[in-house]
Amino acid sequence: MPPRSILAGIGAYLPQRIVSNDELARTVDTTDAWIRERTGIQQRHFAAPHETAVFMATESARAALADAGAQASDVDGIIVATSTPDQAFPATAVRVQAALGATKGFGFDLAAACAGFVYGLSVADCMIKCGQAKGVLVIGSEVYSRILNWADRGTCVLFGDGAGAVFLRAGEGAGSDRGILSTHLHAQGTLGDILYVDGAVGQPDKPGHLVMHGKEVFRHAVTRLAEAVQEALAANHLTAADIDWLVPHQANRRIIDAMGRKLGLPIDRVVITVDRHANTSAASVPLALHDAWKDGRIKRGDLVLLEALGGGLVWGSALVRM
Ligand code: UT7
Repeated sequence: MPPRSILAGIGAYLPQRIVSNDELARTVDTTDAWIRERTGIQQRHFAAPHETAVFMATESARAALADAGAQASDVDGIIVATSTPDQAFPATAVRVQAALGATKGFGFDLAAACAGFVYGLSVADCMIKCGQAKGVLVIGSEVYSRILNWADRGTCVLFGDGAGAVFLRAGEGAGSDRGILSTHLHAQGTLGDILYVDGAVGQPDKPGHLVMHGKEVFRHAVTRLAEAVQEALAANHLTAADIDWLVPHQANRRIIDAMGRKLGLPIDRVVITVDRHANTSAASVPLALHDAWKDGRIKRGDLVLLEALGGGLVWGSALVRM
């Protein structure tokens, strides 16, 4: 029986600077009321110059290792999901490896936008199951404040910065029902133009800003994520009543509420951080997971369903027994 990937520790990092909707409304043509009503967002964290993807990923990784009672020497793989790396290469993951003082195994970045953490969990789980790694850090770290178009009020009010990490440890397999039970990943590249960044280091004079056709993304998010959740439940012969906690991608409170309704899940079993963090893309799911783990809502033994969707479109789920 292949080993299970146990979520041994969870960590997070949020930039110190908190920006309220009212503060944004001083420079952007918007209002606190519009942002709250349409998205549920009340504030977001914005990174200072030193709070880069590498810096925040490293801090969240340190916290995850400490939570697991693990050392850098226990790490033999690092996957960082990010769309906002410090450099095109080396990968954020190897910078994190060096900063932690880890010396073994592999490190690479993964580009799957807001679904990056769920994608990373899936890849790490496969590597643990096939025996290639025993201790893998999966990190989502994003500084979207650096790629926002401040002239586009339809997007610049929606995002925030931060990082979240989990330390996965190869478990015993037989005798334990803890760990990642399933992951399901999807992509539909034909929808690549409804949410994208219009440049990159490979394009001359185009550093790139985020562009989103919000209504279309909203519509796909509700449909695709509901399908992903049903897929995870069916694959594990479960119903929504078996799920202790839903930890959804934190893009919009209205999407999260719609998901809860479709599942028939009471809202007090859904973890919500979009009000305080806004949309932190690949960091959003691990930040939300950390929030409910740290304050004791999510406990060892709980069945937790993670889901996310992002530019690509890419989406997926992970079902975890904590
Ligand atoms: O993380 C990846 C996944 N991302 C998502 O899931 C995001 C999905 N999309 C959404 O969450 C929503 O579509 C938005 C929050 C982005 C937008 O909400 P909406 O209800 O679809 O609003 P809208 O874009 O249709 O805009 C409605 C009105 C427009 O004015 P008119 O044309 O009706 O006069 C906009 O110009 O609201 C206006 N508006 C704003 N007003 C004040 C747009 N942005 C703002 C703003 N402040 N920031």
